[in-house]
Amino acid sequence: MDSPQKRAAELRSLLEEHNRRYYEKAAPTISDQEYDKLHRELVDIETAHPELLTPDSPTQRVGGKPLEEFAQVTHRTPMFSLDNTYSEEEVGEWHRRLVKLLPNEEIELAVEPKVDGVAVSLLYEHGRLQYAATRGDGRVGDDVTQNVLTIRGIPRELKDAPDLLEVRGEVYMTIEGFKKMNEERAAAGLPEFANPRNSAAGSLKQLDSSLVRKRPLGLILHGIGSVKGAKPLDTYIEGLELLHRLGLPRNHTEPARTLDEVLRAIRKIDETRRRLPFEIDGAVVKVNSFAQQERAGFTSKAPRWAIAYKYRPEQAETRLRDITIQVGRTGVLTPVAELEPVFVSGSTVARATLHNEEEIARKDIRIGDLVIVEKAGEVIPAVIGVKKEARTGDERAFQMPEHCPVCGGDVMRDPEQVAVRCINAACPAQVRRKLEHFASRGAMDIEGMGEAMVEQLVEHDLARDVSDLYKLTAGSLSVIPRTGAKSIENLLAGIQESRSRPLWRLIFGLGILHVGATGARNLARHFHTIQPVMHADLEELQRVPDVGEIMAASIHAFFRDEHNRALLERLKDAGLNLGEQDPVETPATDAPLANTTWVITGTLSQEREAIAEIIRAHGGKVSSSVSKKTSYLLAGEEAGSKLTKAQELGVKIVNEEEFRGMIAR
Ligand code: IVH
Repeated sequence: MDSPQKRAAELRSLLEEHNRRYYEKAAPTISDQEYDKLHRELVDIETAHPELLTPDSPTQRVGGKPLEEFAQVTHRTPMFSLDNTYSEEEVGEWHRRLVKLLPNEEIELAVEPKVDGVAVSLLYEHGRLQYAATRGDGRVGDDVTQNVLTIRGIPRELKDAPDLLEVRGEVYMTIEGFKKMNEERAAAGLPEFANPRNSAAGSLKQLDSSLVRKRPLGLILHGIGSVKGAKPLDTYIEGLELLHRLGLPRNHTEPARTLDEVLRAIRKIDETRRRLPFEIDGAVVKVNSFAQQERAGFTSKAPRWAIAYKYRPEQAETRLRDITIQVGRTGVLTPVAELEPVFVSGSTVARATLHNEEEIARKDIRIGDLVIVEKAGEVIPAVIGVKKEARTGDERAFQMPEHCPVCGGDVMRDPEQVAVRCINAACPAQVRRKLEHFASRGAMDIEGMGEAMVEQLVEHDLARDVSDLYKLTAGSLSVIPRTGAKSIENLLAGIQESRSRPLWRLIFGLGILHVGATGARNLARHFHTIQPVMHADLEELQRVPDVGEIMAASIHAFFRDEHNRALLERLKDAGLNLGEQDPVETPATDAPLANTTWVITGTLSQEREAIAEIIRAHGGKVSSSVSKKTSYLLAGEEAGSKLTKAQELGVKIVNEEEFRGMIAR
C-alpha cells in the first residue's frame, strides 16, 4: 500500500493532468465519474490526514459556505464590448477604417472563435488569484471567485507568474454537459434551460459554489487587461502564449495579414465550429500589436481595433405544406405553419407559429412556398423568409378565414391587437380551452379532468361552459365510451372538491383577459366576495394593488357581459364558494418572508404561481410589477425587463437557490 502522503501527491498530479486534458485540450481521457472518484479519494485522504492538505490541492477549488450576496469589484481597466458585423462586406469596411487610422503601417490581425458565454475578469497578484469578477456594467462587476474556482483548469496559484496579471475570458457550459443536465432536469420534471449560455450565466450567479461545482463549466481566456513585472508583451498572440505557459486555458488564434486572410480564417472557424465542445456565435478579429491597438483606440463602448463577426443561426429550407388555424381560449385565431419536417439546430421542426395575418403579409408567405426556417435564440422555430425565386406559380396566398374554422361562427377583427377573434363564446375550441384552464392545477385544480376528458365532455355535449361541470352525474357521464366507473367517480369527486376552492382560484379560472393568478388573488383579497368585483367601476378596480388601466377595463367589460353574469349566477346556484367561506388571510409576523413584497420573473424550476404560493405560505406578498415597494425580485433564467427595472431601482435580486435558502430557515 502506498503511504497516504504519496497517494495524495499522486492524486493531485493526476487530477491536474485530467483538468488540463479536459479544458485545455478538450480531450478528456477519463469519464466524469472516474474523475469524481479520484477527487473523492483525495478528499477522503485529506480529511483523514489534515496535515497533508495543501492550499493548491485541486480539492481546495470548491469554495466554502454559500455567500449572502456577491461583493462588488471595480475593474482595473474597464471591460468593453465589441461592435458586431454580420457580413464579409462589413468586415471589409471595418478593415478599411482601420487602415485609415493606421496609415502606412503593416497591420497584423488575430482571428479567433467568439465563445458564446459570460465574460469574466481574473486578477492574479504574485501568482495568487485575487478575484474573478463578472463584467457587470463594464466598470463594476460581481465577485464570483468561489464559483470560478470550481471550474477545472483554473488554478488559485500560478507558478512563475508575473507580479500582476489581469486576464479576461468567457465562462461557457459544454454542449455535452448542457444536454446531459437538461435530460436530468426533464426526467425530474424541472423546466429545461434554453441554451448553454444562459445556463452558464445562471450557474455563475449561484451564491452556493458547491452547486456550481456540479455544473459542466469551462473558461477560455481571450484578453489581457494588464501585466506588471514581466518582460513587456508586444502582441496579443504573445500574451496568449504566456497564458499557455502559465497553464491557463487560452483561446486559439490564427494570425492574418490581409483582409483576404481574415475572411478565410473566419470561414474556417465557421466550418469547424461544430467540432468544438462549446458553442460559439461568431469570430473575433483583433489587431495583434498592443502599440497599434493603443493608437487605434476606442469608441465610447467598443475598441476600434477589434470587431466581432456573427454567424447566422442555423437555417433550413423546407416546404410550407399548409397554414392551419388554432383557436385559443379567448377566441384568437392564430395561423400556424405546417411544414415538411426538417432538422434544424438539433431537432426536427414540423410546425411554427406565424403569429398573425400582418406578419404573413409582411413576409409574403404563400402556401406551397419553399421557406427558410430558423430557431429564434436556437429554441423556438420561426419562418423567417421565403425563397421567392423557387416559386412555380402554384403557390396560394393565405387568407384569414371569415368564419371560425372550428365552429363556423363569425370572426371579428380586434383593432388593438392585430388579432382576429371568434366571437362565439360557445365555439367548441374556445369551450375546450376554457374548461382546460378552469380545471387546471393553477386554477380550480380539478382532479381527473385532463385534456382527454375535456375533449370527451365537449364532444358529447356534456359541457358548454364551466357551470355545466357541476351538473354532471354518473349517469350523464356514462355516454362517454371506454370510461370506467372508477374514473367517473374520481372526476365527480374532483368536481365536488372544487366547489370549496378559495375565491381567487375561481376568479383566475374564469379566464378574464389579462387577469393572471396574482391579479385574481389581489382582487379576492381586496373585495373578499365576488359581488363587489362584479359591480365595481373602473376607478374602484384600479384601487386594487397592481390592477392597472388595462386589467381594470378587461374585468369591467367581462362583468358587463350578460352571459358572464348569468354564468356566475349558475356557479352560485351550483354551490361554489364565491368568497363567503374564504379564511381571512393573516400572515404570521414571524414567518420568514413576513412584511416582504416579491416580484417573480424568468424561468424557474416550478410554475410561477406555484412559487407565488410558496412565498405567500411563508408570509410574503407577491406583486406583478417592480416598484420601489418591491423588497425582492426572484429572478429565474432569461429574466428580462423586470430584472433591469429592479437593478435600476436598487431592488434586491435573488435567484431560486437563494430564495429556497431564505425559506428553509
Ligand atoms: S475580445 C475590448 N475575444 O464577446 C473587448 N471577446 O460581444 C475585448 N467574447 O464582451 C473582447 N469571445 O465577453 C473577445 N475571442 C473573444 C471573445 C470575446 C467572446 C465576448 C466578450 C465580449 C463580448 C462582446
